[in-house]
This record gives sequence, structure tokens and C-alpha cells, in this order.
Amino acid sequence: MSKITVSTLQKMKQAGDKITALTAYDASFAKLFADNGVDIVLVGDSLGMVLQGGDDTLAVTTKDIAYHTHCVRAGSKALFVVADMPFMSYANPTQACENAAELMRAGANMVKLEGGEWLYDSIKLLTQQGIPVCGHLGLTPQSVHVFGGFKIQGRESDKAQKMIADARALQDAGAQLLVLECIPSALAKQISEAVTIPVIGIGAGKETDGQILVMHDLVGISAGYIPKFSKNFLAETGNMVDAVKKYCNDVKSGAFPGPEHEFN
Ligand code: KIV
Repeated sequence: MSKITVSTLQKMKQAGDKITALTAYDASFAKLFADNGVDIVLVGDSLGMVLQGGDDTLAVTTKDIAYHTHCVRAGSKALFVVADMPFMSYANPTQACENAAELMRAGANMVKLEGGEWLYDSIKLLTQQGIPVCGHLGLTPQSVHVFGGFKIQGRESDKAQKMIADARALQDAGAQLLVLECIPSALAKQISEAVTIPVIGIGAGKETDGQILVMHDLVGISAGYIPKFSKNFLAETGNMVDAVKKYCNDVKSGAFPGPEHEFN
């Protein structure tokens, strides 16, 4: 596998080649994903739920993400690794830089922050310091208690317009990638067209530049339930390698996500 960089991802958007992404938290799965067509691995703070068994992601620390980023990097030198900045680890630009540096030293290629225009100064400083940034809009799980639960975001027209403005602000600040989570497909299409940086969707329909799933959802072992936007690829294929290959093929061909995985 040749090394993927921010330039590769940008070229994929321009060429209309769909980007494949999965979460991973250890070396074995990172290697499996790198060997079978995954372009980006996210060391997500979803680990607070799928590894640590929490009801949300808020208990995750920068130390936790750094540890798992180190494990993931040990599994593959070529993978493009995005590390999540956990809850309250980027409340101001200085704190964001200190914590992001720890994640970059652990092996990340990029850090991901949840939120809109209020992150402008932090993203500007991070990129000035040489730290690439991925934004995250829509259902941002660190704000679950503000939302009153894990709810679809951006259905009202004022909220949709604000999300489009936020996406532009993140790009203007220097973000080079954007995740959209659990928003109406039509809005995700609008945002993907409004920005030039690649947009990766989860529960955001098929019109984004790529897709990401939490790996536990892909193999149907998430604690609790499989979200509507996900699919158990292991059930369909019978083994882990083929499940990952099928996910990548289906994302690349546009077969996944289907209409049954979308929100309106
Ligand atoms: O933490 C995570 O796994 C994420 C994805 C759901 C995008 O942020």
C-alpha cells in the first residue's frame, strides 16, 4: 500500500474517487484495514463506548487516544491515521496545540475536533504549527448532553444553513478534511459541494466524498444496537477480511450506503 497523504485525499475528491475510512484502536486491525483497501483509519473517541463500555465518549482522555494511536501506528506505517481530540482537550487554542502535539507524537497524521466556527482560532493555530486538522459537524457526540441524546442534526433550515457556514469557516481556518455525522443526505450533499476539502460521511448519505464506520458496527458487535446508517458486513461475508474488502468495494462503487441507511 502506498502512503496516503492529505494530497492523496484531496486528489481523490477532485477525481470523484470515494474515500474509505474505518475506526481502529489497535495494531492488528490497523494492519488488516491497511492491507485490504481502507484509506483512512480514525482512532475515534468512540473507544469510550466500544472499548471502555461507556454510555458516551466523555470519559476518554488524550492519554487514551495517544495510547491507541501508538498501537494503530505500530500496525501500519502507510495508513493515514486521524486521532480524535477528546472532550475538553481543545477548549482554547493553546490547550488544543499541547494535546494535539501529544497525538501527533504518538503517530497521528491529523487530529479531529468536534465543532463549528468557534474552533476557527484553534484550527488556525494548529495548522500554523504544522498539525493537520479534520473538522466534525452534525451529531458531534461530545455534545450529546446539549442535544438531549444521539439525535439527527440539521433538519431545520436555520440549523442547516448554520452547518454550511460552519463547514466553510472550518475550511477557511485551515481544516483539510471534514466528517459529517447523522445529518440529512441532501444537506450532506450541499456541504460536500460547498467546500473543496474532502468530506467523509457517517449517517450522511452517499453524496459525500467518502464514508466512515465504527469498526464494531461493520462486524455487528457494537454494545447495544446497530445504528440505522450502518451495516453488518461480516454477516454477509462470513469472515473479517472479506467484510472489510466488501465495505471498501461497496463504498467505492456507491452501493453503500443505500437509501435504507439514509436520513431525510
Ligand atoms: O469517534 C468516532 O469514532 C467518530 C466517528 C463516528 C466519526 O468520531
